[in-house]
Amino acid sequence: MKKNIKLYETVAALLEPGKGILAADESDNTAGKRLSMVHLPNEPEHRRDFRELLFTAPDIEKYISGVIMYDSSIRNETRDGIPFVDVLTAKGIVPGIKVDLGTKDLEGFKGEVITQGLDNLEARFAEYYDMGARFAKWRAVITIDEDETPTDAALKMNAIMLARYAQIAQAANIVPIVEPEVIHEGDHSLERAEMVTTRTLQVLFQTLIEYKVDLSGLILKTSMVLAGSTYPEQTTPEEVANATLRTFHMSVPHTCAGIVFLSGGQAPERSTENLNAIAKLGEQPWPITFSFSRAIEEPMLKAWQGKPENEEAAKEALRATCEKNSLASLGKS
Ligand code: G3H
Repeated sequence: MKKNIKLYETVAALLEPGKGILAADESDNTAGKRLSMVHLPNEPEHRRDFRELLFTAPDIEKYISGVIMYDSSIRNETRDGIPFVDVLTAKGIVPGIKVDLGTKDLEGFKGEVITQGLDNLEARFAEYYDMGARFAKWRAVITIDEDETPTDAALKMNAIMLARYAQIAQAANIVPIVEPEVIHEGDHSLERAEMVTTRTLQVLFQTLIEYKVDLSGLILKTSMVLAGSTYPEQTTPEEVANATLRTFHMSVPHTCAGIVFLSGGQAPERSTENLNAIAKLGEQPWPITFSFSRAIEEPMLKAWQGKPENEEAAKEALRATCEKNSLASLGKS
């Protein structure tokens, strides 16, 4: 396999110890859900203000190595006319881009979905690269339901899409983040989540290897292994940490460049505590850190409330949340 040094440079920048990746890649619709938390309508100028707060907050670059953007935000700029990509690059933060186009039902497989977005991906990557993006994200969605869900067939098809996306990204000098999100909602036990996540990651990495994706130029984004959100017995951070690392050791090749976590709808404090417990288990074959969206944005939104007079407080809340997660990624929270 031909080695691509550019990919490794980006990987090294993204996985700098003590830093994580901010997933600010909500679609315009999902950004609307964030805005409704602060009682603002989903209008372009409010989405711009929300994203501007995230990207311009002072000192986040001490804790954040990369930001995943959405198509409309990578093309957008601050109120003063500075492109968001330039704001991030000036801080030494690597711009990234979500390239999947969401999910649709997988015909014949009740409750299972497949991710869209491979059409024209080469051309889209070329344009995003010119705009400054150096890494990308593609999310597959895996739901745990009755005994037979997820099916191996759905896992395999999603893995093939992730592998094809990763091939195209690497050929475009863009580091792929592959994200098979095992959904937290549900009444499944921790053991079931561990079994499903292990199987999901095994199928994914077998497929990535089969399609000759360079694992040293790729980052895995995954869920922590958690009991379902409505499972009666909640688990301790230590139980989550042990189950999560057992899963990785059963399924993630040591050549994979690194692993980052989504927060999956856990409360921000819980996401940080679990990350800290994982880091406390000591050095692993891969760098491991955070790539949260909601768990980073929620404290900032609470402080903002959509009011101009709260903007500085909101930026400080964001900085403080990033710092807490940075410490947690080092097991020092
Ligand atoms: O795809 C999901 C996002 O990148 C992470 O979002 O931390 O809110 O689960 P989350």
